[in-house]
Amino acid sequence: MKAPSTGLPDHEARRLVQLATGLDATGVAMRDELTDVEAAAFAGYVDRRLRGEPLQYIEGTVQFGPIEVRVDPRVLIPRPETEVLWERAVAALGTADESTVIVDIGTGSGALALALKHAFPDARVYATDVDADALDLARENVEQAGVTVLGGDLFGALPFGMRGHVDLLVSNPPYVADGDDLPAEVGEHEPARALFAGPVGDEILVRLAEQAFYWVKPGGWVFIEIGETQADRAMELFADFQCVVYQDLAGKPRILAGYRGATSCIEGNR
Ligand SMILES: C[S@@+](CC[C@H](N)C(=O)[O-])C[C@H]1O[C@@H](n2cnc3c(N)ncnc32)[C@H](O)[C@@H]1O
Repeated sequence: MKAPSTGLPDHEARRLVQLATGLDATGVAMRDELTDVEAAAFAGYVDRRLRGEPLQYIEGTVQFGPIEVRVDPRVLIPRPETEVLWERAVAALGTADESTVIVDIGTGSGALALALKHAFPDARVYATDVDADALDLARENVEQAGVTVLGGDLFGALPFGMRGHVDLLVSNPPYVADGDDLPAEVGEHEPARALFAGPVGDEILVRLAEQAFYWVKPGGWVFIEIGETQADRAMELFADFQCVVYQDLAGKPRILAGYRGATSCIEGNR
């Protein structure tokens, strides 16, 4: 069957038919029409979507690289640019064993941490967030896979003994300035704490940069997602690391990668 006419783009209507029926695309193609129960569910989903709710919250799951996570309004919907960060970080780290420590700060749904655990099953992977609601969903998504979820403000969530032992630190922190305009679908539905960093937008980046050098071990890596205008600022902030900024799929500079050499000219001065 074809998706009923709704005012939504056809590919979205087809996904909502699949959600209402519990069938995949092939299963839907073999059906003639929706049952009354399915039609009512479909109408409800269409109504939510027409009122601007993100499709991923309606579906309740999102694909992130090789894994799928549950999402709802407690957490940011994982984005394709964060998948680029994941790919770059996996390539940089290369291999991992039981002694490898990977940390995802501001994990939200847990997607990045879970995808890293998928890539490096032997590594010890830690996912942190400051938001209690996000932590609840992250636990549902990642704990079964063996990722440890910790609550707290940035590095404050981590055991102090981990300082200087992190092989790979990743974060997609809030980096929007308070008051900046966002598309309604984002600003009205996704959690403000996941988006806004403060009056300038770099406040969380600054705080990550102040501490990252002391948590990442010599020979380790930091990968941070940044706003498209923040590349120069991020390079300046993470000057202790040997840095490069990678582009996202749209060609925008969005991923700061930093390699921690054995020493830094300012090591010990802060
Ligand atoms: C942009 S979202 C990223 C979520 C997830 N990592 C992703 O890429 O989909 C930022 C996350 O950082 C968390 N966060 C904000 N401030 C924080 C802080 N001070 N300490 C720890 N986490 C924080 C938010 O609750 C949110 O889950």
